[in-house]
Amino acid sequence: MQTIDLSLEKIYGFVPKAEIDQLKNEMEACNRLLHDKTGAGNDFLGWVNLPASVGMKELNAIGQAAKALQATAEVVIVIGIGGSYLGAKAVLTALTDNFDALQEKRKTPLVLFAGHNISEDYFSELFRAVKRRKIAAIVISKSGTTTEPAIAFRLVKSEIERRYGKKKAAGHIVAITDAQRGALKTLAEREGYRTFVIPDDVGGRFSVFTPVGLLPLAVAGINVKKLIQGAQEMEQATGADVPFERNPAMIYAAARTALYRRGKKIEILASYEPKLRYIAEWWKQLYGESEGKDGKGIFPASVSLTTDLHSMGQYIQDGERTLFETVLSVERPDSKVVVEADDTDLDGLNFLAGKRIHQINRMAELGTMLAHVDGGVPNIRIAMERIDERAIGALLYFFEKACGISGYALGVNPFDQPGVEDYKKNMFALLDKPGYEKESEAIKKRI
Ligand code: PA5
Repeated sequence: MQTIDLSLEKIYGFVPKAEIDQLKNEMEACNRLLHDKTGAGNDFLGWVNLPASVGMKELNAIGQAAKALQATAEVVIVIGIGGSYLGAKAVLTALTDNFDALQEKRKTPLVLFAGHNISEDYFSELFRAVKRRKIAAIVISKSGTTTEPAIAFRLVKSEIERRYGKKKAAGHIVAITDAQRGALKTLAEREGYRTFVIPDDVGGRFSVFTPVGLLPLAVAGINVKKLIQGAQEMEQATGADVPFERNPAMIYAAARTALYRRGKKIEILASYEPKLRYIAEWWKQLYGESEGKDGKGIFPASVSLTTDLHSMGQYIQDGERTLFETVLSVERPDSKVVVEADDTDLDGLNFLAGKRIHQINRMAELGTMLAHVDGGVPNIRIAMERIDERAIGALLYFFEKACGISGYALGVNPFDQPGVEDYKKNMFALLDKPGYEKESEAIKKRI
């Protein structure tokens, strides 16, 4: 079995297979634009051949920095937002024991995140939680000027300097930022932090296979070589020379494009494994920020099942028929739990005795898929044999490649995010940032 297996069988009742096949030329042309670097946003296509270009030298440097942080700290606080946060968070959650936080003896530091919100309680509870633990930080910002991580870093840096002294603080901090520009770059140089570079031509949401994703994951003990190996395999499987019929990224992009053109404006990424919930968060950023512009784009949503069948299930089954569902399906769990027989059978569950929990979950998945299809929700299935580094690496690259292709098919520049700036202008004006005096006066009258 390939690392991931894509099935469109359950969308053909809504979009005939012939209609998907007719998109072959369009999808191949869009994939070609990514490889030839001749489409919109072509200065941000470094991610296309990134897995193949990650060398041993880079992996060794990441490995060394990770070891140094592991030796220094019991807790490593990873500071970043958006693409500088979600990749590491997604992979870490997918590949970590569900109850990792309760583990008593750790081989690797606990990785916690900050800088992805501006909640005062979050900060105070974070500092309280790490009060008696040795700490270090990885601060990640491509621009080096994003407000949320900058605030978090100011707080974490002060805490580290208070504890270890200004001189020793540099041994507790690694910065990942632009090669040339930005406040973080200047600060890192001045303070003597170890630094890693985010390549100029790789945007935040496509940066998981750079040190942005790899360093926090290596600190947590994730096998980043295998992650890259999976991504490399998918890079080959979705190359410009791989024809439509054998190219999963083009087929997924074609399915999404055809469904969107038939009025299916919302895609729900669903999974029956709670470990994959942050893969869905990463996927939402990837597609939302890449496609949602110029008044166009599929709205990416997600559900964690069966949990959300008891909250969102009603809408999916019966609400407005503008949805389609993409299910991340896992064939094999890592452990074995069986339902036991009970003498009294008061709960009436003896019909499940001897069955594995995974088998029950699988039947929930199949039953739900058929119910949703019957209710008018087309269903795409992406299956992986098991959740491991190789499969997750392949899955993330698959989504990136399909995103570039379907963004071009939509007719947008998938690699910019102009809409993200608007809230910042208002926030700065409301906070009286120097240079925003005019906007400040105007906006305060509106609230
Ligand atoms: O995908 C993107 O480009 C954004 O989500 C950024 O990653 C996010 O805004 C954080 O930016 P930065 O890394 O410059 O702090």
